[in-house]
Amino acid sequence: MTICKFSLLPEAPEHKTEIESLLDEAFGLARLAKTSYRLREGERPVEGLSHVAIEPGRGIVGCISFWRIHVGDHGPATLLLGPLAVAGNRRGVGIGRALMNNGIDRARAAGYALVILVGDEPYYGRVGFRKVPRGQLILPGPVDPDRLLFLELQKEAMGTARGLVLPPHRFNQRRLSGLPETR
Ligand SMILES: CC(C)(COP(=O)(O)OP(=O)(O)OC[C@H]1O[C@@H](n2cnc3c(N)ncnc32)[C@H](O)[C@@H]1OP(=O)(O)O)[C@@H](O)C(=O)NCCC(=O)NCCS
Repeated sequence: MTICKFSLLPEAPEHKTEIESLLDEAFGLARLAKTSYRLREGERPVEGLSHVAIEPGRGIVGCISFWRIHVGDHGPATLLLGPLAVAGNRRGVGIGRALMNNGIDRARAAGYALVILVGDEPYYGRVGFRKVPRGQLILPGPVDPDRLLFLELQKEAMGTARGLVLPPHRFNQRRLSGLPETR
């Protein structure tokens, strides 16, 4: 039987190196080319939601980040979840679920309405994520539509989420330049 005791701590700057090696192990460097990374560039993870799992004597064994994003011109307060990763030899003992539930509970309490992510529906479906209806959200790069998932933290939030998904700084640039939100 695997016994694994871990604590969840808010992500802090001193965790960065360990988090990056955990992400290298889980996803490889190809992760940096993914569309979800386009939504994180130039932004910082949301403080108070992004956490690490720490095991005594070993260090960081899991991490999760949340990022503010804009959906269309008047979408609900939305977060992008990810990456979520757990160290290879610590998987299957509930660290991923604990990180997710902790972040989602805090996001709900903070007033966010919607969480989206790109990931495996069989895993995230366990905490209630479902596929985004095809064509409802447009991401700034290619995404497998079967992996684009959402979780409503407020009732019917997905119904008002429509259009281009952008990180805050790009949304603001676009708004200042007067470009329509669907391009
Ligand atoms: C996915 C991941 C975060 C799960 O973390 P974890 O701590 O092992 O997850 P939990 O302990 O909470 O849950 C384990 C359960 O989820 C299942 N599971 C894990 N990954 C799964 C997947 N991709 N699809 C479906 N089920 C999955 C396990 O089989 C296990 O099932 P069981 O409870 O019936 O035994 C971890 O496996 C990981 O880091 N993988 C590589 C990175 C990744 O794929 N991240 C998610 C995409 S952003």
